[in-house]
Amino acid sequence: MRPETKAVHTGVYADRSYNSVTTPIYPSSTFSFDAVGVNKGYDYTRTANPTRDAMEQNVAALEGGAGAVATSTGMSAISTAMMLFKAGDHVIAGNDIYGGTYRLFDQVLPGLGIEISFVNLRDTDAVRQAVRDNTRGLWIETPSNPMLNVIDIAVLVAVANEHEMLTLCDNTFLSPIFQRPFELGVDVIVHSTTKYINGHSDVVGGVAIGRTAELADRLKWLANALGTTCSPFDAWLVLRGVKSLPARMRVHEANATRLAHWLEQHPRVKKVYYTGLASHPQHELIARQQEGHGGMLAFDLDAPADKLDAFFAAFEVFLLAESLGGVESLVEQPWTMSHASMGEAGLAASGISPQTVRVSVGIEHVDDLIEDLERGFAAIQ
Ligand SMILES: Cc1ncc(COP(=O)(O)O)c(C=O)c1O
Repeated sequence: MRPETKAVHTGVYADRSYNSVTTPIYPSSTFSFDAVGVNKGYDYTRTANPTRDAMEQNVAALEGGAGAVATSTGMSAISTAMMLFKAGDHVIAGNDIYGGTYRLFDQVLPGLGIEISFVNLRDTDAVRQAVRDNTRGLWIETPSNPMLNVIDIAVLVAVANEHEMLTLCDNTFLSPIFQRPFELGVDVIVHSTTKYINGHSDVVGGVAIGRTAELADRLKWLANALGTTCSPFDAWLVLRGVKSLPARMRVHEANATRLAHWLEQHPRVKKVYYTGLASHPQHELIARQQEGHGGMLAFDLDAPADKLDAFFAAFEVFLLAESLGGVESLVEQPWTMSHASMGEAGLAASGISPQTVRVSVGIEHVDDLIEDLERGFAAIQ
């Protein structure tokens, strides 16, 4: 089956009583046994739940993985996946990853004895040099948030394989519709389902998917042990949302492409970051690795950062908010919002300036979005 069909049908038909065409929500925290040791496959919802199972099957199928565990947030999926490592292990991670992931890797995991080196993953030699005897993992996020730098997954998987390292990839930005890291040899994929997979800004959630059954089972085991699994209601919302993922992604992309070209021509814009632009320095890699470009872009305003308030205030459609991947268009300043936890040195090292604006392009009519941006630019003339 193709992704559009998988998204609509996989895991959905669990209701044998009434043949409901949507998966019922089973909010029950516990399930009764017919006899000691005999139940219908479920005992306690932290461990497994029929609604959550349906959603996990759907997302695992879209990514082409053996199985998945759905968690309470994207960060809990990442935390769960990082528990595949133990004290004494060293992991290499990209240096311009999502700020919350950076915080976990920089401020929490070292306290548990898991050392992280932040490396520019576009520099393969730097990655090779960062490998130590105890290096066990490689964390990839591509395209990066918010600068849309692209990392060559296949090249890094080859390096990781030379050293028997596990490769993990945050595929939140492109979703399985536009990028399938398992096909490039990655071992574990995580998503913040808060973003495109759910797509309606009405749930926070995550998913960790294993390429092999062994990894998928280990991730499920860890999520149960850590208590990071999501509620049946959240799983139901995500399953409802994911059915339209392929259709939504195409509109996000079409709108973002129009906006990126429009912004590139604008005199008050210094630079636009979008993987669909011919001006993107990694155009050739992008064409090889991605099947599309999604709805995330960023640009540097050619105006002092103190003009940003007036720029944002003029908008009637764009909302000033963190997060991304929902049907509604959002703008934000990574410097003070989504990426503030990186600190000024970390921000500058990843090329983020106070004038950088991140845009999550929604699925509204693109002409309304352009008119809104025109309002913003008019306000700072
Ligand atoms: C790329 C990426 N990964 C992970 C996360 C964390 O997800 P959540 O906010 O659902 O915990 C985010 C959140 O913005 C993100 O942008």
